[in-house]
Amino acid sequence: MKREKVSFRIEKAGDEDLKELVPLYLEGYRGLEEYAYTHPDDVKAYVDWLRRRDREGIFVAKVGGKVVGFVAGDANWFSKREHKKVGAVHEIVVLPEYRGMGIGTALMDRVLSYFREKGLHTAELWVGDENYTALEFYRRLGFREKGQYNYWIRMVLDLDGDSKGPVSSG
Ligand SMILES: CC(C)(COP(=O)(O)OP(=O)(O)OC[C@H]1O[C@@H](n2cnc3c(N)ncnc32)[C@H](O)[C@@H]1OP(=O)(O)O)[C@@H](O)C(=O)NCCC(=O)NCCS
Repeated sequence: MKREKVSFRIEKAGDEDLKELVPLYLEGYRGLEEYAYTHPDDVKAYVDWLRRRDREGIFVAKVGGKVVGFVAGDANWFSKREHKKVGAVHEIVVLPEYRGMGIGTALMDRVLSYFREKGLHTAELWVGDENYTALEFYRRLGFREKGQYNYWIRMVLDLDGDSKGPVSSG
């Protein structure tokens, strides 16, 4: 999906930005409720948990002063499946009207660089098995499927590999 590009920037989330993440999340997951928290109190608790896990791993995308997307990475995550510390991407959301402009890719690039700065070698995430847009998005970034638990697919990326550019889907 290609759209006319807007000019955006990626920043470490400030305290003011964090307050915008609850409505952003609720709007961003409309239509994907089976994989998401739907009550604002639950989303607030979730955002608080993301902040406690790794405050430095949260980055926002801004258009003008408006937060239009965020990614929550965690450089302190121990993966039971990988048996080691990995960079976990717990969350990424871009507002629907700003999708297909490269904002999600830029957020992922930023958080993957952060994991590399922290000396991590592997990134891990879980994605809903019918969230086809996100699955394709992660595949294009070089993530590969490595197992499933209920309706969640686990994907991993070798942070040391030559995976900084887009990967052809062929
Ligand atoms: C997944 C998500 C973050 C992608 O954000 P985005 O800003 O649209 O991503 P980009 O513009 O960087 O897209 C990069 C690539 O992803 C794929 N992609 C993005 N939107 C797509 C769509 N609607 N259909 C198919 N592929 C899509 C394309 O391959 C795209 O490349 P292209 O623009 O060259 O065609 C966004 O769709 C989103 O917020 N989804 C809802 C929340 C969610 O599911 N989060 C992931 C939970 S695990």
